[in-house]
Amino acid sequence: MKTVVITGSARGLGFEMAKVFLNNNVNVVISDVNEENLKKAKENLESISKNASVEACKCNVTNTEDIENLIKFAKEKFSKIDIWINNAGVNQPEKAIWELTEEEINIILDVDLKGTINATRLIMKEMEAQKSGAIYNVEGYGSNDAMMLGLSIYGTAKRGITYFTQALAKENETRNTGVIVGRLSPGIMITDFLVNAVGDKEKIVLSEKTKKVYNILGDYPDVIAKHMVENMLSNTKNDVHIEWLTNRKAAWRFMTSSFNKRDFFKTLGDGKE
Ligand SMILES: NC(=O)c1ccc[n+]([C@@H]2O[C@H](COP(=O)([O-])OP(=O)(O)OC[C@H]3O[C@@H](n4cnc5c(N)ncnc54)[C@H](O)[C@@H]3O)[C@@H](O)[C@H]2O)c1
Repeated sequence: MKTVVITGSARGLGFEMAKVFLNNNVNVVISDVNEENLKKAKENLESISKNASVEACKCNVTNTEDIENLIKFAKEKFSKIDIWINNAGVNQPEKAIWELTEEEINIILDVDLKGTINATRLIMKEMEAQKSGAIYNVEGYGSNDAMMLGLSIYGTAKRGITYFTQALAKENETRNTGVIVGRLSPGIMITDFLVNAVGDKEKIVLSEKTKKVYNILGDYPDVIAKHMVENMLSNTKNDVHIEWLTNRKAAWRFMTSSFNKRDFFKTLGDGKE
C-alpha cells in the first residue's frame, strides 16, 4: 500500500485530498500547524477509513525540525513515503505591497514559498535514496503571471513555486533520480482561505465584485481534490501540471453564468465579523 504525506491538511484542499487518498487505499499522514484542527481532522478521517490508515503529525512548514520530524514520523508509521504534497499555504491581507508590514510579508513568503522549498529539499534526499517517489507543489494566484492589488506578495510566492517546481523537475531528470515532480493548480476553492489572511490572523472582507467572480469560477475543495488525487495516482510522468480551472473551463463558466447562479458565501461568510 502506498503512503502520502500532505502538509497543511487539517482542513480545506489538503483535508479533502486526504479523504480521497484514503478511499483509494493509500495510507495518509496529515499534518498542520493548527493542532486542534489536526486532531479533529484525524478523528474525522478515521471514521471514514476502511482499508488504508491515517496518522497525524503536527508540522509547521516554516520550521526545519518539524519537517524532519514529519518525515521520520511517516517512515516509522508506514516505512516509506511514496507521495509528498506541499499544500500548506496562507493568504495575503488585501493591501498594496507598501501597506504590508515586514512581518506580514515574511509570513507569506516563509509559508507559501520557503516552506515548500525547505520541505522539498528534505524529502528529496529521502526519495533520491529510495530511487522513487513523487512530489507535488500547490500553485495559486500569480503562478500564471496574473496580477492584482492585494495579492502581489502571495503571487510572488506562487510564481516562485511554479519556477521552483519546474527547475526541480529538470534537476531530477538531469540526475536521473527516479523521483517525479508536479504542480497542482486548483483554481478558486471555496475554503476558509478566501476570508482569512496570514494564517487566520487577519480577516479579508470580500467586495461584491470579488464574490461575484468567486461564485462563477469557484468550486468546493472536495470536487477539486478528487480531480487532483485521481490524476496524481495515475501519473507516471515528471514535470506534470494538473490543472482544475483551465482557461476553457473558466470561459465556459463566464458564458453560462447567467443560467448558473451560485452563492457560496451564504455558508462561508464574507469575512465580515
Ligand atoms: N482557496 C483558494 O482559492 C486557493 C486557490 C489556489 C491555490 N490555493 C492554495 O491551495 C492550498 C490549500 O489552500 P486551502 O484553500 O485549502 O487553504 P486553507 O486555509 O483552508 O488550508 C490551509 C491549511 O494550511 C495550514 N497552514 C497554514 N500555515 C501553515 C504552516 N506554517 N505550517 C503548516 N500548515 C500551515 C492551515 O492551518 C490550514 O489548515 C494553499 O497552498 C493555497 O495557497 C488556494
